Amino acid sequence: MLNLLNQYKNNKSNNKNNQKTSIKTIKNNHNIKMKRTQIKQIKEHISKQICIKGFVQKIRGQSKIKFLILRDITGTIQCICTSKDESLFEQISKITPESVVSIIGLVKEEKQAPSGVELKIEKIEILSLSEDLPIQVIEKNKTETTLPKRLDYRWIDIRKTDKLKIFQVWTSLEIGMRKYFEKEKFMQIYTPSFMSTPSESGAEVFEVKYFETTAYLSQSPQFYKQMALAGGFEKVFVVGPVFRAEKSNTTRHLTQFTGWDFEVSYVDEIKELIDIEEDMIISCFKQIEIDKLIDIKIPQKPFPTITMKQAKEILKLEKIKSEKDYDLSPEEERKLSQIIEKKFKHEFVFLTDFPTQGRPFYHKRYDEDKTLTKSFDLLYKGIEITTGAIREHKLEILKKQAIDKEMDLESLEQYFEFFKYGCPPHGGCGLGPERIIMKLLDLETIKEATLLPRDVTRLTP
Ligand code: 4AD
Ligand code: MG
Repeated sequence: MLNLLNQYKNNKSNNKNNQKTSIKTIKNNHNIKMKRTQIKQIKEHISKQICIKGFVQKIRGQSKIKFLILRDITGTIQCICTSKDESLFEQISKITPESVVSIIGLVKEEKQAPSGVELKIEKIEILSLSEDLPIQVIEKNKTETTLPKRLDYRWIDIRKTDKLKIFQVWTSLEIGMRKYFEKEKFMQIYTPSFMSTPSESGAEVFEVKYFETTAYLSQSPQFYKQMALAGGFEKVFVVGPVFRAEKSNTTRHLTQFTGWDFEVSYVDEIKELIDIEEDMIISCFKQIEIDKLIDIKIPQKPFPTITMKQAKEILKLEKIKSEKDYDLSPEEERKLSQIIEKKFKHEFVFLTDFPTQGRPFYHKRYDEDKTLTKSFDLLYKGIEITTGAIREHKLEILKKQAIDKEMDLESLEQYFEFFKYGCPPHGGCGLGPERIIMKLLDLETIKEATLLPRDVTRLTP
């Protein structure tokens, strides 16, 4: 704005005797008013003057010609300048890699240019000059910079096209998820992160000072999505932050991740929940296919489903060591997925009917076998991405199950209230999208699937 004003003033004083020039000249002589073209669209503008803006990926200099590779979110383009235009040549010599510039130039077909077109630079404006880079955007090999260093400079790291792709895929995945919930008339609800009591027994909780008292960061929207059903909403979903004070430095754990949760009323059996989750995941994968981001295999319904007891028997035959009979170790998860993939050519497997010992107090138990819960996990390429269950909605039984688990009933008083004044039978599940992205894109760690990961030691940037 100031630039424009100054130009206007200068023009006014320079052209005192030539009233006609001013405004017209200002509009045409600078890129401020020229519409920006994205690099992907350049081919539609052969022989035309355009304005492009982006990061300077590279400058190759020779004595008579300079090649500048400009990058925006849609791709890269080779821009050239010859020494005939001395001041422009000089200006380009001062530009450092990763500076942000605006270029006006003429689009030319050029067989030798990497994309078949190039831009002959006519004008260049430095919008932001980069200092020496702490990490490289174009790396010689993928291990040139360590992960912690890359994460320290995450905003430079994500300029790499393969990193950008991760978040484009995530966006598609989420659009697919929302399409499904919209089609099925789910209601999106937002639940608080501050809680007066931990929401997931077993999962470690962060305590925070909350004025004169202590609050806990939500480990799951579990209680509140159930509350919404007690409020008559029938089908809800939540997308929100989930906090786990897990001191595990693994490739699958974060201390903050995104929870995708849904909960539905009037379901009695886990196969009803499994059916919903299958459709939702298929919708997610189809969206990635629609957006043509990566080659993707759409999973077929029904996904393979086996009980925990069957899984343990299969693993025993494979001589895989089992530490707990009520849960799978990461190694067991990996092996089971491999076996299923080989037998059913499917990357997903639902694991059902977990013993009560490994499940929270609110999971419903089978009438015919009280030692088993109506619950499931979903494994994808060897890792758990979902836990779900039919919930116990009868208050007396719920309380009894909490006592069985030696829970502090007083701290659950608020939760128990939700079941006192009429509550439909219901169930639901929670998914970790970071884990889906990690496996879908074969990333080495969940941290790569997260824009700004939080783990045991990382609180920045
Ligand atoms: O298995 P979790 O702990 O289940 C629940 O939170 C229940 N309230 C769900 C329910 O409806 N019964 O967490 C759900 C999912 C996991 O399957 C996993 O994908 C992801 O959340 N998750 C994590 N992702 C990243 N880092 C962590 N520390 C995670 N812990 C769980
Ligand atoms: Mg779980």
